[in-house]
Amino acid sequence: MNGNQQDRNRRDIATRAVHTGERVPPSAARPTTTPIYLTSSFSYETTEQLDRVFGNEESGYVYSRYGNPTLRVLEHAVASLEQTEDAVAYPSGMAAIHAALALVVSAGDSVLAARDVYGATYAVLRDYFARFGVRTEYVDTLNVEAVAEAASRLQPAAILAETISNPLLRVTDLAAIGGIARECGATLIVDNTFASPVLVNPALLGADLVVHSSTKYLAGHGDTTGGIIACSAEKATVLREQSKLTGAVAGPLDAWLTLRGIKTLPLRIGRQSESAGCLVDWLQGDARVDRVHHPSLQPNLPTAQFTDVGYGGMVSFEIAGGDRDVVFRFLDALDLCVPATTLGDVYSLMLYPAISSHRALTAEQRSEIGIGEALVRLSVGIEAVADIRADLDQALGRALRS
Ligand SMILES: Cc1ncc(COP(=O)(O)O)c(C=O)c1O
Repeated sequence: MNGNQQDRNRRDIATRAVHTGERVPPSAARPTTTPIYLTSSFSYETTEQLDRVFGNEESGYVYSRYGNPTLRVLEHAVASLEQTEDAVAYPSGMAAIHAALALVVSAGDSVLAARDVYGATYAVLRDYFARFGVRTEYVDTLNVEAVAEAASRLQPAAILAETISNPLLRVTDLAAIGGIARECGATLIVDNTFASPVLVNPALLGADLVVHSSTKYLAGHGDTTGGIIACSAEKATVLREQSKLTGAVAGPLDAWLTLRGIKTLPLRIGRQSESAGCLVDWLQGDARVDRVHHPSLQPNLPTAQFTDVGYGGMVSFEIAGGDRDVVFRFLDALDLCVPATTLGDVYSLMLYPAISSHRALTAEQRSEIGIGEALVRLSVGIEAVADIRADLDQALGRALRS
């Protein structure tokens, strides 16, 4: 900054109120945690330097839609967890899924997607990408032969799968699908939201773009919305250029909250996996519960793709003989678990797919993919497992008594 302090102090109060204290050079002391860079633009000592940064001759920041230091730290952290070269942050999981598809597909291309992808992913393919001439075919990704057949017939630009599906928690063999994607030259996009990088690293199994709704496990506290794509440095560069144009850029405060959440991610996932295991055992032995879904119960589970932490904190189950009224009573009777439309938080959360994530389907369509009227989905929190079990126990009792 030019000029001296005395001259600046003589300026009108309206001017001083706006500028005083801003753009002060940082002291030599480094903050021990990442600051939240709540700034839309960045200035430099000289215009020459700004010109070099604009021209990519020198690294730096000029405008937060092009990049922001807090976001960059989050991106480094997720790339490290997913064991990829780089990552790019987005304002929501859906923005990340949209960006991943937009990177890969052009008019006339096909996408081969898992039959039970997240509802909004299904909707963005059907209601948005279809308008631009992108055709999607759906396949059961647990049926590797069916994926291979569809891939060789369609020659898709992208294959899109989820590590653990919602709400039936079916686990796709990513190494097998990765092999098929390589053979037909498709980009493999894997949504790793339900597993988190603590359980599975899809990039090590052949995924080109690993997508997260960081709203869920990565951030983990239910207080922010975000998405991220972990990928190669080359793909990240193109994704950043794409974000500059589309404006799908995460805010620094959300990035910081996610970064803070990530610090306890392994602790949370470890605890939630362990508690989920206990609850699965208990639910399986309870006559008031018909079917329990958890990755650990899947026959032919591709166990090699999991780390040794466990199989995650998501559990789904059917209330025996339950219909909509019984499930409503069950949800209303919960006193600890929170009925809410999200997952992966420190709190235990309960979701009723028939009225939320899978509401857009007819009852017949839901039942075709195994989602009955009595199915509920529990996202196990970090509370004491005995308290979660006691809450489920009393709510089942009250739902089935009346
Ligand atoms: C598996 C999965 N992917 C993506 C999303 C979308 O994420 P967001 O709500 O952050 O846009 C969700 C949201 O529930 C999800 O469950």
